[in-house]
Amino acid sequence: MQDAMNISTRKVKPEGMKVITECRMCHKKNLHSFLSLGPIPLSNSFLSKDQLSKPEPYYPLDVHFCSDCGLVQLGQVIDPELMFKDYAYLTGTSSPMKTHFTSLAKRVTKKFNTPKGSLIVDIGSNDGTLLDCFKTLDMKVLGIEPATNVAKLAMSRGIETLDSWFSKELAQNICSVRGKPRVILATNVFAHVHDIDGFIRGIINLMDSDSVFIIEVPYLIDMLDKVEFDTIYHEHLSYISLRPLVTFFKEFGMDIIDVERIDVHGGSLRVYVQKDSASSSSTVKQLLELEIKTKLDSIETYRRFATSVGRIKAELTSLLNDLKGRGARISGYGAPAKGNILLNFCQIGTEILDYVSDTTPFKQGRYTPGMHIPIYPENHFHKSPPDYALLLAWNYLDDILRKEDGYRKTGGKFIVPIPKPQIV
Ligand code: TMP
Repeated sequence: MQDAMNISTRKVKPEGMKVITECRMCHKKNLHSFLSLGPIPLSNSFLSKDQLSKPEPYYPLDVHFCSDCGLVQLGQVIDPELMFKDYAYLTGTSSPMKTHFTSLAKRVTKKFNTPKGSLIVDIGSNDGTLLDCFKTLDMKVLGIEPATNVAKLAMSRGIETLDSWFSKELAQNICSVRGKPRVILATNVFAHVHDIDGFIRGIINLMDSDSVFIIEVPYLIDMLDKVEFDTIYHEHLSYISLRPLVTFFKEFGMDIIDVERIDVHGGSLRVYVQKDSASSSSTVKQLLELEIKTKLDSIETYRRFATSVGRIKAELTSLLNDLKGRGARISGYGAPAKGNILLNFCQIGTEILDYVSDTTPFKQGRYTPGMHIPIYPENHFHKSPPDYALLLAWNYLDDILRKEDGYRKTGGKFIVPIPKPQIV
């Protein structure tokens, strides 16, 4: 029944989509496809009840490796207006992210001796959670956020936000009105940008010799090691490693002065970039060596990853079917964008999951894209606890195990899908 409905409303939609033939970083034409997860709907396109019977756009989702510069990237680009103008994800609804951003603000202001009153600009500032942490440290803050619904929310909580796409022109405008920022942040944004040359030209306009540009972005080595295939979705155009990034910034007269591996989003890089800096930290060298050891420059590495993805699909669906066959009640825990990739790729629908619970008000009362599973607030999970909860927000495993200690003590179990499906 569920499948029949999904198929009848499914529409592979080439409109609003561009197929790329050259690497977005080095512009050479040596792209090698190694994994296809689609056709699949946009992972943040949560549906209202009346949208369930309407045609739902599906898009291909193919991943390529550039054998010239080493950038891993999608073969399709979806019009960003379709993905970001009305956005479902709110940083502030995941409390571990608040903790993470509090520590980021403290770390950055200490590392660069940022004087109080300095201007901090956050690109893709979402609901202002990160800038709020800098505001608490007496900095002047400015957000740039193209999702109108989210920018409004940030402004309502007192974070000055420009509801706009970032561009060279906007950067010039900001500098002429407010001067050059000391810190420019782009957390979970760089991998979303198609025209990265244009993006960096804008960043250069914002910077002087004291400014630092800080990127946080999921790290390719973590994605490969932990088989985090569900972090591959249309919003994430690039899957970043250090080697292509070093070359890329050099071409713009910029240098990666330091890099840190951090835990967020399944393992990320925090990259510090300055204009014409003389030195870089030893961590940069160490990570470049690790990337060589990990054979990030070989297509075979990516083919092995694709094989592991197929194995997870087979093991997870077999585990869920087996539990369901024995009468277990199962729900999904968290409705992150990546969860929708996992559910659609593995074809897990309402015949397996009774519902999905999530803390984001916007998602509650809606249905997951493609698989059409109803989303309820977290209290539904506590009122109607399942025997098993498929942990779709697996990046918060430790926090969620702590938070749901009561559920586990009364016999509830989590199914963690990656790197190998297991019950905890
Ligand atoms: P993210 O992995 O992209 O940050 O998204 C996490 C999603 O999971 C987001 O929709 C909020 C939700 N969530 C919960 O429902 N419960 C939780 O305890 C946490 C940490 C997140």
